Amino acid sequence: MSQSFDRSIKIAPSILAADFAAFGAECAAAEAQGADWIHVDVMDGHFVPNISFGPATCAAIRPHIKGVMDVHLMISPVDPYIDAFVQAGADILTAHLEAGPHIHRTLQAIRAGGAKAGLALNPGTPAEAAAGLLDDVDLICVMTVNPGFGGQKFIHSQIDKIRKLRTMIGDRPVHIEIDGGIDPVTAPLVVAAGADVLVAGSAVFRGGSVADPAPYGRNIAAIRKMANDALSDT
Ligand code: DX5
Ligand code: ZN
Repeated sequence: MSQSFDRSIKIAPSILAADFAAFGAECAAAEAQGADWIHVDVMDGHFVPNISFGPATCAAIRPHIKGVMDVHLMISPVDPYIDAFVQAGADILTAHLEAGPHIHRTLQAIRAGGAKAGLALNPGTPAEAAAGLLDDVDLICVMTVNPGFGGQKFIHSQIDKIRKLRTMIGDRPVHIEIDGGIDPVTAPLVVAAGADVLVAGSAVFRGGSVADPAPYGRNIAAIRKMANDALSDT
């Protein structure tokens, strides 16, 4: 990962809301407009009811991203594909706790492959389910929608879970990433609860395009401002 650990606010646009025919240019445009990380959503039509793309697409996108490529695997099983996603250039590889019976093994395999290990929790999974895994992860991704689609409504009951995880993590260098329904209204809520990485798809890519990327910059700046204001209030 091209970044050392810190808890500053990071905005990670999800390319699920970008132009699928122009991923490379979309990633470059989002970075040029202020994105900190690029969030890449992989869906298999089995773990979630939607199919996006796989490791070949991630490898094709990689040269167009200067910073962190944050790959969110919504697939089951995970283990047979870890090597392919590491080879594709993922800096962070996030697997779902619900994706199989041996999540600890999966996280170890991701680290052994050379990527940072992320653990994603579905809305129905309690914070306590991550208790035995805190020394084996670099990031916990709290899903604030049910995974599978962009543009869904933020689930407010997840805020208490974020607060619990922040306490459980303590001084460990573990990011708390929030994924789903993040916009300038919800961003401050999750930051006040302890989040530092904000994934946003529709709220970043709406209104702009590769030909007219300035709205991406305004959208990112609006989320960042509300998030940082919440941080200075805590
Ligand atoms: C949902 C994906 C999210 C999604 C976020 O399954 O993991 O990354 O694209 O999209 P928005 O920000 O539109 O909710
Ligand atoms: Zn995601």
